[in-house]
Amino acid sequence: MSQTEPEPTLWDELTSPVNFTLILVIAYLIYKIVRAKFEPEPVAVPVQRLPKMRKDLTVQELRKYNGTQPDGRVLLAVNGVIFDVTRGKSFYGPGGPYAAFAGTDATRGLATGTVAGSDKDYDDVSDLTPDEVSAAKEWEEQFTGKYDIVGRLLKPGETAKQYSDDECEAKTEDKTEDKKSQ
Ligand code: HEM
Repeated sequence: MSQTEPEPTLWDELTSPVNFTLILVIAYLIYKIVRAKFEPEPVAVPVQRLPKMRKDLTVQELRKYNGTQPDGRVLLAVNGVIFDVTRGKSFYGPGGPYAAFAGTDATRGLATGTVAGSDKDYDDVSDLTPDEVSAAKEWEEQFTGKYDIVGRLLKPGETAKQYSDDECEAKTEDKTEDKKSQ
């Protein structure tokens, strides 16, 4: 007469390697679910806004606004208009794909599809082709809809305009985070 194996007890079942692993996995998942339920909602951290800037700048003055200053402000110019592109920092900030435009007159680069800002003291872009001129115009329009205007890029010998407080507000009040598309 053959000896039959004793029936495994519940304890034997639970402590078998496969079941024990499953129990651990399930316990971990339950822990994650319960923890997620009781975790406080992440608090929306308000975006640190820099004070609005309204000023005409020379090419040399523009250069320092390339995102490497402590306040991280980034400006660029297109067709003589200076834009505050700080909120597009992922594009133009240090290490960004378009960082070469930061703090520069970007007209020629944007017009010709070259990611490079002008390194000249003043870039006279009168040699651009009609197609390039319209490409630059389109970029200017896109930036006008998205970013605050800071002022005019001064040609050598030109003097900065004094902007009144009203002009500062009028140019900038509508550009809230929510209204602008990225
Ligand atoms: C393979 C070629 C390229 C690809 C795939 C590409 C792709 C993109 C993408 C996906 C964005 C983000 C758009 C958004 O989220 O609003 C962008 C932004 C931008 N691209 Fe390009 N790009 C290319 C070439 C160029 C070139 C050659 C220039 C230079 C003229 C350029 C200038 C820009 C600028 C200035 C922005 C930022 C616009 C802003 O501030 O809203 N891109 N690009």
